[in-house]
Amino acid sequence: MPSRPVKALLAVEPGVDVENVQDSLPGGEDFNVVAVVTGAEDALQWLRNGVADLLLVACAGYSDRALLLLDAVARQNPDLNVMVLGHGSPNGFLRRAFEAGADDIVMLPATPDQISFEVHKLLARKQGAETPVSNENSRLVCVLGPKGGTGKTLTSTNLSVCLAQRGERVALIDLDLQFGDVALCLGLPPEKTVYDLAQSPGALDFVKLQDFLSVHSSGVHTLIAPRRPDQASAVGAELLREIYSILRANYDWVIVDTPPGFTAEVITSIDNSTEIVMVGMLDSLSLKNTKLGLETLELMKYDPDKIFLLLNRAHSRVGISQSDVEAVLGRTPDVFIPSDREIPRTVNEGIPIVVARPQSEPAEAFGRLTDLLAGDVTAVEVPVPALAGADAGSKRRLFGRKA
Ligand SMILES: Nc1ncnc2c1ncn2[C@@H]1O[C@H](COP(=O)(O)OP(=O)(O)OP(=O)(O)O)[C@@H](O)[C@H]1O
Ligand SMILES: [Mg+2]
Repeated sequence: MPSRPVKALLAVEPGVDVENVQDSLPGGEDFNVVAVVTGAEDALQWLRNGVADLLLVACAGYSDRALLLLDAVARQNPDLNVMVLGHGSPNGFLRRAFEAGADDIVMLPATPDQISFEVHKLLARKQGAETPVSNENSRLVCVLGPKGGTGKTLTSTNLSVCLAQRGERVALIDLDLQFGDVALCLGLPPEKTVYDLAQSPGALDFVKLQDFLSVHSSGVHTLIAPRRPDQASAVGAELLREIYSILRANYDWVIVDTPPGFTAEVITSIDNSTEIVMVGMLDSLSLKNTKLGLETLELMKYDPDKIFLLLNRAHSRVGISQSDVEAVLGRTPDVFIPSDREIPRTVNEGIPIVVARPQSEPAEAFGRLTDLLAGDVTAVEVPVPALAGADAGSKRRLFGRKA
């Protein structure tokens, strides 16, 4: 319970067993029911006198009277905390109650402990909403790759963990809503997903969002993709925008893993991003798609200085030289990740390679990507991998860009 006692006004609708409801409420000094009223007029009168900081509306089934009361309270006392205590979930009532101004709905029967927990959460949430944490320096990085299987998830998970290892506050979102596998790559059980978040009633804020984030041992807070592909459509652009804004206010970095292609959710994420990591692979089809992806970003007028190009499986000897890569893409990749048989092994174990094999070449390359994004370097020596046709062991001077 909050530091000062809660003063609750209990409005009881016809058909409700008052004693039953009162037995469900928390007792003790932290929670006082200042009055029990039955009519809307009475309730509004009590509230006008400023006696309560929480209105509890107990109703049995669908109640137009309760909706009218919520409506009137929203107009008269817009800042008041309002919780509905309901029975069953009559068709459409929950939604209407939220629309009319309820901050939260708790279904009865519930124990005093449960109600106490919900009240605590509601008050903390409203307090948080009044004092938004602003974090203008936060970054939202969208990891893109127009073709499937290029290494987007490998990149977003290792980048997130690398940042967390450096003490940054990191949130990672799996936006591959149909076939997301961030949870698998991080060894996290998919207990709560973005689908569960989309389904949960009530307004979204950080306190609520936190309930749906799974915490990885590195400290990365992860919003996991839905368990089943048919759940993907529940997550719309509006919800994503809200999620991004809340996460950016509370984390230093928000990393977004995406599905292949420019889906509506991916475009929303690009629009909300501060940087993009474009992941390409060393084969002609992937390079062609990577080029198309870069051209699409150009059409979207995305600042090219904010796009980092990562070439995965860069050691593969597939008859493509570095100059071929540059000719196709029109630019030099910023980071090369070599092919390494340890990578599938670490993916299967659910331990990112930057944790499982921190000294390995891929782990060091992810470290360089992190340096570049964090702007920790203005110039770094990047060993060019032994692409066929390139001078083995040659070095290229790469000028990192301050973001
Ligand atoms: N450099 C590499 N060396 C060896 N294996 C790799 C490398 N990069 C990726 N892989 C393997 O390729 C597979 C696909 O990688 P990943 O899941 O990161 O791609 P993706 O772009 O996210 O795919 P999707 O489009 O299906 O989401 C993984 O099983 C991973 O183990
Ligand atoms: Mg993926």
